[in-house]
Amino acid sequence: MAERRLRVGILGATGAVGQRFVQLLEHHPWFEITALAASSRSAGQTYGEATRWILNTPLPEALADRVVLPADPEALAGTCDIIFSALPASRAREVEPRFAAAGFPVFSNASALRMEPDVPLVIPEVNPDHLALVRVQQKRRGWSGYVVTNPNCSTIHLVSALKPLHDAFGLEAVIVTTLQALSGAGYPGVPSLDIIDNLIPYIRNEEEKIETESRKLLGRYTGDGVEFADIRLSAAVHRVPVTDGHTEAVVVKLKRRATLAEVKEAFRTFRGVPQELGLPTAPDPAIIVREEVDRPQPRLDRDAGGGMATTVGRVRPDPIFDYKFVLLGHNTIRGAAGASILNAELALKTGYLD
Ligand SMILES: NC(=O)c1ccc[n+]([C@@H]2O[C@H](COP(=O)([O-])OP(=O)(O)OC[C@H]3O[C@@H](n4cnc5c(N)ncnc54)[C@H](OP(=O)(O)O)[C@@H]3O)[C@@H](O)[C@H]2O)c1
Repeated sequence: MAERRLRVGILGATGAVGQRFVQLLEHHPWFEITALAASSRSAGQTYGEATRWILNTPLPEALADRVVLPADPEALAGTCDIIFSALPASRAREVEPRFAAAGFPVFSNASALRMEPDVPLVIPEVNPDHLALVRVQQKRRGWSGYVVTNPNCSTIHLVSALKPLHDAFGLEAVIVTTLQALSGAGYPGVPSLDIIDNLIPYIRNEEEKIETESRKLLGRYTGDGVEFADIRLSAAVHRVPVTDGHTEAVVVKLKRRATLAEVKEAFRTFRGVPQELGLPTAPDPAIIVREEVDRPQPRLDRDAGGGMATTVGRVRPDPIFDYKFVLLGHNTIRGAAGASILNAELALKTGYLD
C-alpha cells in the first residue's frame, strides 16, 4: 500500500487505550509510531518510566527509551504525519482542534467532539460515507487537518450488530442493557473495594452517549451534515467485575416482519467496506454468530477476530418486541484503539490521507 509507512503520534499514550494503540501498531504495515505524548506528569520521562504497562504482551522494546512529549502540536511538529488520540474528553476538546488547525489528521477516541455536526463519527462497516464530512469541517473551520471520531466502546459493538438488521428489515425501537468491563474506565479505574463481589448500575453519561451516537451512526449523510436515524433507543448501563469485554443484552422491534432464520442470516452474511477492501485491521467476518446456549462470554469471546469482531448469540424471538440477542465485544480493541486505527486505514485507502 503506502511506499513508506505513515508516521504516527499517540496522545494519551501512557493510558489504557494509549497502550492498546502501541500494542496494535507495533507491527502495522501502513503506520509506524514516531511520537508518544501524555500529560505534564509524564512528559520528559521515557515511555518505559512513565507507563504502568497493563497489557499481556511486553511493552515494545523499541519504544521504552522514547521520551514522552507534551500533548501539544508545537511539541509534535515534524515528528509525525497523523495523530491518534486517547486523551480524556475534557483535554481532547481543547487539544484535538489545535492539532487539526496545525494540519494533522486526528483520529480520536474521546467523546468531546463526536456529536459536533461537522465531525464524522465513523464505524467503517456502518457509515464509511460519513468520512466525507471532514471536507465540510475543514471548509467551515479553516483547518488544513481534521478530526475523525469513533464511537463509545458500547455503542460501537451495538451499532455493528444493529446495522445488518436496520439494512434488511428497518429498526423501529431498541432496548439495550450493558454489562461493561473495568478497563472501560481507564487505569486505575474503579476502586477494587467498590467492584469485587459487586456491580455498579451507573456509568456517567454512558446511557446518553449510546442513545445519541447510535442515531448519528445509522443516520444519512446529506452532503453537509448527518440526518439522524429515526429509531427509538433506550440504554441501561452497568459496570461489572470483568477485566475486558463488554456484554450487551439487546431487544429489537423491526419495521418489517422477519423470521428467526432471516435475522441470523442478516448477521452472518454482513460484510462492510473494510472487509471488501481487505483493510489490515478489519475482522472477517465482522459479526460472529454463536449457536451455543451460553455464549458469548467475555473470557471466551472478547478476542474473536483479534478483538475486532462483534460476537452475537442467543438470538431468539421476544414476546414483547420482535427479537432479542446478546452481543459481546472487546472494549479497548474494537471499542477504542482498534476502531481509530480502522478509521485511519479507511481514510488512507479512500484518499483522505494523501
Ligand atoms: N477504556 C476504554 O475502553 C475506552 C473506550 C472508548 C473510549 N475511551 C476514551 O479514550 C480516552 C482515554 O481513555 P483511557 O481509558 O485510556 O484513560 P486513562 O487510562 O486514564 O489514560 C488517559 C491518558 O491521557 C493522558 N492525560 C491525562 N490528562 C492529560 C492532560 N491534561 N494532558 C495530556 N494528556 C493527559 C494520560 O497521561 P498520564 O499518564 O501522563 O496521566 C494518559 O496517557 C478517554 O477519552 C476515554 O473516554 C476509552
